[in-house]
Amino acid sequence: MTSPSTAVPPPEAVGPLIRGLAVLRSLSSGDQQRAGDLARATGLARSTVDRILATLEATGHVRLDGHEAVLAPRAMEFGNAYLTFCRLPDLLGPLADRLADTIDESVSISVPDLDGVRFVHQATRRRAMSLTFRIGDLLPAERGAPGALFAAGWTEREWDAWRHRRTADPNGVGFRHIPADGGSAAASFPDRVATARAAGFAVDDQLIEPALIAIAAPLNAPDGTTAAAISVVSHTSRHTAGTLAATVLPALRDTVARMRDVLATPTPPAEPESVGRPEATPVRSLARGLAVLTALGGSPDGLTLTAVAQATGLPRATARRSLMTLEHLGYAADGRLFRPTPRVLDLGYAALSQRTLSQIAEPHLATLVGQVHESASMSVLANTDIRYIARVPTVRIMSVNITVGTRFPAYAASMGRVLLAGLPSEERAALLRRTKPVALTNRTVTSHRQLLEILSIVEHQGHAFVEDELEEGLRSIAVPVRDLTGQVVAAVNVSSHTSPEPSAQALARLLPPLRATAAAIESDVRIVGRHQAVTTP
Ligand code: PHB
Repeated sequence: MTSPSTAVPPPEAVGPLIRGLAVLRSLSSGDQQRAGDLARATGLARSTVDRILATLEATGHVRLDGHEAVLAPRAMEFGNAYLTFCRLPDLLGPLADRLADTIDESVSISVPDLDGVRFVHQATRRRAMSLTFRIGDLLPAERGAPGALFAAGWTEREWDAWRHRRTADPNGVGFRHIPADGGSAAASFPDRVATARAAGFAVDDQLIEPALIAIAAPLNAPDGTTAAAISVVSHTSRHTAGTLAATVLPALRDTVARMRDVLATPTPPAEPESVGRPEATPVRSLARGLAVLTALGGSPDGLTLTAVAQATGLPRATARRSLMTLEHLGYAADGRLFRPTPRVLDLGYAALSQRTLSQIAEPHLATLVGQVHESASMSVLANTDIRYIARVPTVRIMSVNITVGTRFPAYAASMGRVLLAGLPSEERAALLRRTKPVALTNRTVTSHRQLLEILSIVEHQGHAFVEDELEEGLRSIAVPVRDLTGQVVAAVNVSSHTSPEPSAQALARLLPPLRATAAAIESDVRIVGRHQAVTTP
């Protein structure tokens, strides 16, 4: 179990893919970095980093902001490939969420990743201040409850690898997101593993940070291996490690039994998704390798070389060299079939997993403002109001003065009408009944009947156009932003002072780029929300 990436690459390895993934990994540790810093961190030439970044921008995985490189939501596709392949968030996430609701404590699902523990699902109920792991974060096995369960099945070689890592990095500097512990967790680890093996559950009594406690139970795969650990996380203000175990173990074990049933139920094989042939980029072999990595999520059983070549449109020999390179770096494993490993989550997933809806929208709104030279915003419904969650103003002196957090009555605002139109008809009518429309200008529509008619038109035409109703001289066009399920989760608009340009002309000019912006945001939301909820601040 030596770290695969430190071994000598096989002769067929694709150098640009190795270097490109090194840049992606380095970006993932900070999410946003200058090209020069990336060159220093990876030991690559600045010109190489520039070419890699240009490629990653062309593939949509990175956004370049001057000399800064920022991970784009699309980089979550790699982690999604692993999470889709392993199926645990999709199959078990709802049961973990239900357990968290029942016991009112946080519940997480983690999987073994060499001598570490990788989080794949979080149902968070944190009241006391404590550390929260992101999906994709890696914990050393000796810190936390799940590692003791996974290590219960380790071979002597795996224990050697763990000791080797401890010797090479005694202070755990490779795990920057948790506080150092001075080695006490490692000293007690072998004993805790033995105790966990005998008890069938493991305890974390403040192994990560003071006051944070957890218990974890193993989830065995149908083949008897420990596929995952289900952890209940609490705080010393509510429990001791002992009372936590006594209180929640029955419910935890019940959930694990249900999860085992779910895993044992065969699911129909899915058709591997085509990821499409990679586009022409400065470093073609990097783009091809990334397409291969993304394709590995295509089937829960793993893919044959032929299936990978088909899904990416690449020649078999090219796909094979990419697969060997990914395997060498520890991102793919090859049994009978090729599959992605949990380590893939290091490539941007954890760094991006807490992107909020407004953070996803902002760069797209900025692009729109650059195109149309009008202010652009995003809002969500807050009872009968809309609440601005993102706004990119134009630099024009006469710009409309609205900031994030601003509220307007939904019935009179273009985004409000789009959001109301996105509700199921009963909810829409109920919400309007709770609204007391007032004439904000002499053009504001205030009749319930008329508003319902307008909302039905907005629903069918897919946009709302409001002029002089919210404020004299204010014109705004809005369209919906939908999630994976088709539900309207937000609205985006462009707004400006009424100009001499006729309304119909303004609509014809602004609607196509506004729709394209909504589509770009939706595409990102689908990637970020594939295996977890996208949060709205
Ligand atoms: C967590 O999910 O945050 C967690 C899980 C296990 C631990 C500690 C924290 O031991």
